[in-house]
Amino acid sequence: MISAPKGTKDVLPQDSYKWQYIEDVARKVAKDFNLKEIRTPVFEHTELFLRGVGDTTDIVNKEMYTFKDKGDRSITLKPEGTAGVARAYIENGLSNGPLPVKMYYIIPAFRYERPQAGRLREFHQFGIEVYGSPSPLADAEVISAAALFLDRLGIKKIKLNINSIGCKTCRAEYNAKLKEYLRPHLGEMCATCRERFDKNPLRILDCKEEGCKKITAGAPRMIDYLCDDCAAHFHEVQACLKAGGTEFNIDSNIVRGLDYYTKTVFEFVSEDIGAQGTVCGGGRYDGLIEELGGNPTPAVGFAVGLERLLLLMENTGSPFPADGGPGVFFAAMDDEGRRLAFSFAVKVRALGGSAECDKMGRSLKAQFKYADKIGAKYVVVLGESEIAAGKCSAKLMSDGSITELKFEDIPQFFA
Ligand code: HAM
Repeated sequence: MISAPKGTKDVLPQDSYKWQYIEDVARKVAKDFNLKEIRTPVFEHTELFLRGVGDTTDIVNKEMYTFKDKGDRSITLKPEGTAGVARAYIENGLSNGPLPVKMYYIIPAFRYERPQAGRLREFHQFGIEVYGSPSPLADAEVISAAALFLDRLGIKKIKLNINSIGCKTCRAEYNAKLKEYLRPHLGEMCATCRERFDKNPLRILDCKEEGCKKITAGAPRMIDYLCDDCAAHFHEVQACLKAGGTEFNIDSNIVRGLDYYTKTVFEFVSEDIGAQGTVCGGGRYDGLIEELGGNPTPAVGFAVGLERLLLLMENTGSPFPADGGPGVFFAAMDDEGRRLAFSFAVKVRALGGSAECDKMGRSLKAQFKYADKIGAKYVVVLGESEIAAGKCSAKLMSDGSITELKFEDIPQFFA
């Protein structure tokens, strides 16, 4: 037997209603924020991610699904949504429309990571990106969209942590200070952090190794080195979040795993799903569009990992609306009855109702059992006597009550 590749998961028919529910809520939140859907290819030129996500990141260095296509081009399955959206924004001249441009997506993403609970090689994201506004209001609006999405799904126990990692100018100054602090401890740090020291020292703050964590606990904090503009921006983001009633904590260790961020970064973190507790991550990235060849364009966005979200909802008993069965099951006892059942099912569906009928040649008793199992609301038996009389009884399965129906009234009743 051929099994699914490691780190991938099938969504089975009995579970897909949960995904559909989460996606429906995501689309409704997007609509309420006036975000329009953008769909970009599942694969892109590898260079997009080298330049977009950044060549010092784990994603680019270790985790990308990269291959040569038959035309000898280097292609990569997208490890995240932002770079593709930025490319599409530039390529399609979206900046010519009214600003800000507000977009969302629901996508599969691919990272070659070590699979564990909440960490897969193919996973899914609901993300939003807002282009063209440098205002802290845009940061706050994006964060409040994530908060509303989680709230509408009934998730209460989740923490929003925010930070600012400044702009190119103040970060350079901070990086120098950070390196000065870390240099005497280099020998005690893990190999990855030693590598990060020169290329991207900020990422050392994100290391999960106990030894490194101890060292970084006393490190200088980026928020203490923000330039006036970045400090004012961060201050105003907080004021807007407060004005909108969104609770948050400041966590000066959030640096995020992608290189494009500037100023605000944030994460929604849960303690109910194990080690991979970050359900949503995002931030401002004012330099990416220019980096990819577009005009300088401020931007801010987030992505929620849908597998982690589902895990969180299941672990904390967040309610999913029941997956409804068909409105009616037409049961039959012989071939003539089955044909009639089939024709009624066709008529009910043509009027917009949902209907089911037997295709397994089951006994009447087994058909009732099956109708109950699939959650049919009504069962109608089309036996010899019903056919002779041209009328039947519709049994409401929830309480057993009966409604008498003439055959000609059936389609309308169940539509
Ligand atoms: P990210 O933090 O890399 O950010 O991913 C966002 C979310 O995707 C994570 O918080 C997590 O829930 C989920 N995720 C990431 N990797 C995996 C995995 N291997 N398995 C399961 N879930 C995973 C981004 O992707 C940015 N593009 C977010 C963004 C949009 N920033 C601005 N705009």
